[in-house]
Amino acid sequence: MTEPAVDVYLTEDDAAQSLRTDVHNGLTAQPKWLPPKWFYDARGSELFEEITRLPEYYPTNAEREVLATRAAEIARVTNAKSLVELGSGSSEKTRLLLDALRDHGTLGKFIPLDVSATALREAADQISTDYPGLVVHGVVGDFTRHLDRLPDGGTRLVAFLGGTIGNLEAGERADFLGAVRAALEPGEYLLLGADLVKDPSVLVRAYDDSQGVTADFNRNVLRVINRELGADFDVDAFQHVALWNAEQERIEMRLRAQRDMRITVGELDLDVEFGAGEELRTETSAKFRRETLTAELSAAGFELQEFWTDKAGRFALTLSQATD
Ligand code: SAH
Ligand code: TRP
Repeated sequence: MTEPAVDVYLTEDDAAQSLRTDVHNGLTAQPKWLPPKWFYDARGSELFEEITRLPEYYPTNAEREVLATRAAEIARVTNAKSLVELGSGSSEKTRLLLDALRDHGTLGKFIPLDVSATALREAADQISTDYPGLVVHGVVGDFTRHLDRLPDGGTRLVAFLGGTIGNLEAGERADFLGAVRAALEPGEYLLLGADLVKDPSVLVRAYDDSQGVTADFNRNVLRVINRELGADFDVDAFQHVALWNAEQERIEMRLRAQRDMRITVGELDLDVEFGAGEELRTETSAKFRRETLTAELSAAGFELQEFWTDKAGRFALTLSQATD
């Protein structure tokens, strides 16, 4: 196997510095919060893969169903020469797109980008082994910061799957979609996976599974802070909470302190008090409706070409084109 090229836009020093800033800002804010990208160290990425295999976590299977049904059409419509994948993780479902684009005969390059260096390198290695002749150019980077540096490569199709768009707040989504648009030439494509509004009990179960895998994933962010910044969180003293915010139409994940605690973050010279019952906000996962998603895409300079869902109507895959 030829080793795939991996560009590192997010160096360990850079990541360490932004972790320090984020943890300092988040733990001294009221209410306390932490940005979600810090879930994904090697263990966090593995736990996320485990989430995707849970019976309650329908988004992965629903999106896979749409991809399996539509991949050939996506290849035909886009004629993409390179596939860029943002927040690529294991790139497992992405193989459906790679297969279709290869069979269509246009694909030359695959560019996965992820903050998780371990997940990125593993996926890039495996895909480069399994797709001989495909140029795999991995990027360790932050999709909220590094889109202006995406390698080019003919007609590009940018895929952003898994409903990760929902993990950005409305303002961040507008910035993100604008940055994707700015990175593309008119006529290039965005394939966006978005989870849809549905029965709240189905949603809550997807983020609070019976085996406690999601709880473990949520608490992983505390383990990352203990290890990277010398903090002393008693990880098991925080309860996983997932609730549906009906007004904002999003799932909110929190970690609730089970007792009064004083946490020391050694490397930040920071002491933080938690009262019993106090909640630390870790992640939100917005759910979409067709009209609002289309409006957000259009505001960012994308024209919607297709809006597909799985048969059960749980999850949407949209294909849009960068306009002039
Ligand atoms: N696309 C995969 C993984 C989704 S999980 C799927 O559909 O199953 C979200 C992925 O985005 C993780 O791999 C995580 O490491 C990555 N991620 C989260 N925040 C990111 C950021 N700011 N920049 C780049 N990658 C990010
Ligand atoms: N992008 C995934 C989602 O919103 C991420 C995710 C799934 C997640 N389960 C989680 C994030 C639990 C934090 C906690 O569906």
